[in-house]
Amino acid sequence: MNPVVERVYEIGIIPVIAFNSVDEAVPLCKALVAGGLPAAEVTFRTACAEECIKKIHDEVPEMLLGAGTVLTEDQADRAMAAGASFIVAPGFDPNVTKHVIDKGGLMMPGTCSAGEMQQAMNLGCEALKFFPAEANGGVAMLKNIGGALKTAKWMCTGGINAKNVNDYLAYDQIFAVGGTWMCKSDKIKAGAWDEITAMCKEAVDTMLGLEL
Ligand code: 3PG
Repeated sequence: MNPVVERVYEIGIIPVIAFNSVDEAVPLCKALVAGGLPAAEVTFRTACAEECIKKIHDEVPEMLLGAGTVLTEDQADRAMAAGASFIVAPGFDPNVTKHVIDKGGLMMPGTCSAGEMQQAMNLGCEALKFFPAEANGGVAMLKNIGGALKTAKWMCTGGINAKNVNDYLAYDQIFAVGGTWMCKSDKIKAGAWDEITAMCKEAVDTMLGLEL
């Protein structure tokens, strides 16, 4: 397994973040680390994403950092140069996917059909994002596809929360989940770091309570 995929698997839950300002980056990441989730997918949905990735990379080096909502080759290049170890997109764009792979990066494109998954795997993607997971049939959908695509590995995001996280993680072809439920944007805006740490701890405890 690619060492970054392995690390994502070990952490299990990847907080998906849209930063409002660079000042939030370090305190939020310290709150995530304190809560047992030393990882973040920093999304390019806000303009400060690249700067946030750079700052976290320099100041909170224990974080496993990915870039999310990466829609263009230029964004992928900027994210990797800033220190992102993996690139995530909401959809499957063969050009961006190939570009990241050619540069030696780890690309997890968003996929929600067997056709997209096959194409991404044939381009060399070791890990796929299944997005939006709940709206596309959730675990039941992946179990159907997984019966045919036996080597597919998914990180699922979109509609995952404390109530359904273990339904996902209990399926062995799902190596991780991502989401915003432990770090909602209003909590980040309010600087509610202790609350975010507590939500992360709850997520980790739920995951550790998983009976396989
Ligand atoms: C993502 O980009 O992966 C999703 O926006 C996260 O989905 P959620 O907000 O439903 O957790």
